[in-house]
Amino acid sequence: MKAITQDRYGSSDVLRLDEVATPAPAADEVLVRVHAAGVGPEVWHIMTGRPYFVRLMGFGVRAPKQRVPGRDLAGTVEAVGSAVTEFQPGDEVFGSGRGTLAEYACAAAAEEGKVGGAGALAPKPANLTFEQAAAIPTSGATALQGLRDAGGVRGGQSVLIIGASGGVGTFAVQLAKHFDAHVTGVCSTAKTELVRSLGADAVIDYMREDFADRPERYDLILDAAGRRSLSRLRRALTPRGTLVIVGGEGGGRLTGGFERQLRAGVLSRFVSQRLVPLTAVDRRADLLFLKDVIEDDKLKPVIDRTFALGEAAQALTDTEEGHGRGKKVIVI
Ligand SMILES: NC(=O)c1ccc[n+]([C@@H]2O[C@H](COP(=O)([O-])OP(=O)(O)OC[C@H]3O[C@@H](n4cnc5c(N)ncnc54)[C@H](OP(=O)(O)O)[C@@H]3O)[C@@H](O)[C@H]2O)c1
Repeated sequence: MKAITQDRYGSSDVLRLDEVATPAPAADEVLVRVHAAGVGPEVWHIMTGRPYFVRLMGFGVRAPKQRVPGRDLAGTVEAVGSAVTEFQPGDEVFGSGRGTLAEYACAAAAEEGKVGGAGALAPKPANLTFEQAAAIPTSGATALQGLRDAGGVRGGQSVLIIGASGGVGTFAVQLAKHFDAHVTGVCSTAKTELVRSLGADAVIDYMREDFADRPERYDLILDAAGRRSLSRLRRALTPRGTLVIVGGEGGGRLTGGFERQLRAGVLSRFVSQRLVPLTAVDRRADLLFLKDVIEDDKLKPVIDRTFALGEAAQALTDTEEGHGRGKKVIVI
């Protein structure tokens, strides 16, 4: 089968379009014919092995353990392992698996709640194309887990989404509205209309002003971009508000954007506000939740651009620039 491969960590020029053996599913896995694969910073970090902290999370210290990159997918079940009862060949699915920048990829049929595990799958939302469905798994689940599980979002709360125009942020704005919050999105000038069109009640253009200098205070902040200091973020929170740190690019070679998350977890014990570092997990229940909201027409994936499999390196180069508008999707 055709696949993108990488034998060492590095920038996108380590990626090659290759011919490799089709993977065989384990007893509890499904083999999916991949029609589309979403990519974002989660693929970039594992491609580059940066920050180095990432390598210690089980992805390989000297070289990537997984030769074919990619996590998110949407496609058709080709074959199932002997212990799989949830799916059968021909089912249209979406979720995350291993090595999805390829014509075929394996994913766990029923795995729950693991970081960097073998993924999770669910039936594809009936009203979406494969390209749209492939944009959901990592970003949609991260937004959901950040707002609902880590953030405890409730109706009527005032919620600030930083990085509202990105892969995670475009889901977070729509989901926060779905949870009946009053939503303010932070993005650059060119994307204010996009963020408003997703349902944000207010938009702050970070190129013109910093939200922390304004008088508004938020019950919940979901921080997915900009790597602002914890003190600036806390200043914009109500005294008992919650800050969920999803991510933010840049930072030192060792811990990169994770450094703030590590500090937030410690500081949270000593202040009245809750500062929560988020590590999203693969969970079938969350994919099913997102599918229901999408089929109710309350949530729609935003696709920045689609790329052919042979253009995967370009998609990852664009990802590194960090100014996307929703999710990049590789069409296979
Ligand atoms: N914790 C987890 O489990 C988890 C899971 C998924 C992702 N992440 C992390 O979360 C972060 C966001 O991921 P993503 O997929 O949404 O990335 P993305 O698609 O690259 O989006 C980032 C967005 O932030 C905007 N942005 C850049 N600088 C900003 C600033 N100073 N203030 C406000 N917005 C700014 C960018 O566009 P403009 O600058 O043009 O507005 C872009 O739209 C990444 O660091 C990623 O690694 C963490």
